[in-house]
Amino acid sequence: MKNIYKNSIKNLNVAKNILCANKIIAVPTETVYGLAGNAYSNAAVKKIFKLKKRPKINPLIIHYDSLKKLNKDAYLNSNFKKLYYKLSPGPITYILKKKKNSKISNFANANLQTIAVRFPKNKTIKSLLKKLNFPLAIPSANISSAVSPTDCNDVVDEFGNKIKFILDGGRSAIGLESTVIKLIGTIKIMRPGLISEKEISKILNKKVTFTKPKKIKKVISPGLLKRHYSPGIPIKLNCKKNDDKAAFIVLGKKYNNNKNIFNLSKKNDLKEAAKNLYKIFRKIKKLKYKRIRVVKIPYSGIGIAINDRLKKASYK
Ligand code: TXA
Ligand code: MG
Repeated sequence: MKNIYKNSIKNLNVAKNILCANKIIAVPTETVYGLAGNAYSNAAVKKIFKLKKRPKINPLIIHYDSLKKLNKDAYLNSNFKKLYYKLSPGPITYILKKKKNSKISNFANANLQTIAVRFPKNKTIKSLLKKLNFPLAIPSANISSAVSPTDCNDVVDEFGNKIKFILDGGRSAIGLESTVIKLIGTIKIMRPGLISEKEISKILNKKVTFTKPKKIKKVISPGLLKRHYSPGIPIKLNCKKNDDKAAFIVLGKKYNNNKNIFNLSKKNDLKEAAKNLYKIFRKIKKLKYKRIRVVKIPYSGIGIAINDRLKKASYK
């Protein structure tokens, strides 16, 4: 594809020039691919919202490559530091208090007094961030409420030639969005991901949990409760069997290779299942199935994040 560019010094410089002109590119991360723009620029951030058709009240995650740069934009509290030194760079996003003199565009954080920040681990995006003197606002590179992309071709499927520059960092190693944790007020996991409640609780030496959306009364993280991550096909969860016409998403070795069967992981490995989930959604959509059924997925480890995405994808 003519808009896909490999990680090279030359291409990173081209990417830098586009971003410095407050234009938008697509970038790899270890979780999912994102649309990236200068987080200090209102113009760039507005372009991201427009491309994604994203509601203005749903804030973006700001991506950094160093604490020194973050220190200009947010207050770094002690719980943040504990988690940061163990888990970053990696698939975790921290919600912190925004500094008054921060240059982050207010559009990026939807006029809240907080910002969500992440240090990605994928080496291509890290090299790019290092070259810039501003952080990047990077939401997942999909039209709002659709399935996140996990490689360059998925980004092309979402945006066609509207995105002229896609930086290729290979297939996303994790395949599900980062864990989002709120570190001001009561500490809470807002979005489950590969980094689990258990791991976080151990580092902070206190119990931190993810409250399933149906139990959340007040919307603290706008955009988290609506239909999301959806392939746009009705999905039925916790099914034991298929009907003849539905695409059947399964897990484990007891299923045959019937054409309607899509196995998340024959080895019953939940990490592999997470990596394959969005790929399988896209495949099923391309094959024009009218319905999806999914077996019950164990509610533990990254299985909690898989269940969260399935539940939101099935929301009518
Ligand atoms: O893995 C990821 O986090 C990917 C990659 C590209 O880094 N990004 C991602 O971004 O998933 P996005 O925009 O698709 O999801 C960001 C989530 C949204 O649910 C948003 O509501 C929440 O983070 N969020 C962002 N800023 C927030 C804030 N200040 N307070 C509460 N929630 C916030
Ligand atoms: Mg998203």
